[in-house]
Amino acid sequence: MKNQLFNDNTMKLGVMAFNCSHGSTVTMADGVWPMTWSDNATLARMVDNSGMEVLLPVGRWKGYGGDTNFNNRTFESFTWASGISAITEHCTVFATVHAPLIHPVAAAKMAATIDHISNGRFAINLVAGWFKNEFQMFNSLWREHDQRYEYASEWIELVKRLWIETKEFDFQGHFFEGKALWSEPKPLQQPRLPIMNAGSSTQGQIFSAKHADMNFVMLRQKDDTSDIKQINNLKVLASDLGRSSQCWIHAYVVCRDTEKEAKDYLHHYVVEKGDDVAVKNMLDIFGLQSKTLEPAVLDDFKYHFKAGHGGYPLVGTPEQIVSDIEKLSQMGVDGILLSWVDYLQEAQQWIDEVMPLLVQAGLRQPFIPS
Ligand SMILES: Cc1cc2nc3c(=O)[nH]c(=O)nc-3n(C[C@H](O)[C@H](O)[C@H](O)COP(=O)(O)O)c2cc1C
Repeated sequence: MKNQLFNDNTMKLGVMAFNCSHGSTVTMADGVWPMTWSDNATLARMVDNSGMEVLLPVGRWKGYGGDTNFNNRTFESFTWASGISAITEHCTVFATVHAPLIHPVAAAKMAATIDHISNGRFAINLVAGWFKNEFQMFNSLWREHDQRYEYASEWIELVKRLWIETKEFDFQGHFFEGKALWSEPKPLQQPRLPIMNAGSSTQGQIFSAKHADMNFVMLRQKDDTSDIKQINNLKVLASDLGRSSQCWIHAYVVCRDTEKEAKDYLHHYVVEKGDDVAVKNMLDIFGLQSKTLEPAVLDDFKYHFKAGHGGYPLVGTPEQIVSDIEKLSQMGVDGILLSWVDYLQEAQQWIDEVMPLLVQAGLRQPFIPS
């Protein structure tokens, strides 16, 4: 079976962060995602039947305090992906994996297992570490930023060998060593599973260009020119290494019959009901520990973080949203991972009202379930 990440749709789509309480919205608005398995299963089946390409969990180990305690309850992403794979048939199912928190020998086998359960639909979003407080729970060494990517490089090199080598091998690296390493069964997808990475620093982008099939970009949204530059830069980095890399973004969606209704609702859940304490906690950790954003830029991001974890705003009528997506496609974006306040209701509306317009705009093919 062909992994849907590589199908012919010009703009690929997926849904993210529904393995976490509050999903991507840092708000106390009514209808926000409470996160139960039953709702996860319903949403996954709905997305799978719609022809979208991706189901992506985030890798999160604790919440961010405030009244929401945003992302306090999260399903672990490998086990989540295993369950989701068993009840879906079409979408690529991801796990978001913190390289330093799971040993490559365990990760290679868990990934191969899910690739079999999903019949070749599994993929990995490999992250190097973002929030120090999560690592403290594991008593795991919090390496200096760039070294985290060196660690992740060796991690993925070792995992890839475990996925293809049919004879036992010794491994002596800078971070890992082991004797007579071996893993069976191999993943169905050969020589390796698709890999995504969301690094935005120079080192993160170099890692992505070298190892990932998809870079998950957080567009700075200063202006279109700088966003296009950011996307092109990633694609050039990969093509200089003889590779190609898709550019994916995360977008938060507020789709209503009129632009005013959409903007009013956005204002309601971000400004009237947003959790300023949780977002401050998150950005304090983020600002201190990531090289990605300057402090001045963080202020702008507060709004976007409450609205949708720093994602790109798709706010308006179905027609306005499709026109924004056409622009994103022209800018070089290959895929969008969506989130909403009320996933079940709003994803259904997206499927009914936005997806047909994307087909009309030539950005997607009509979906015919196999
Ligand atoms: C849309 C998006 C989703 C992300 N999801 C996770 C996640 O689930 N877990 C995590 O630890 N980091 C996550 N990250 C953080 C990235 O892996 C990365 O650490 C961050 O973008 C900072 O880049 P840098 O590591 O190159 O400094 C995410 C980033 C983005 C943009």
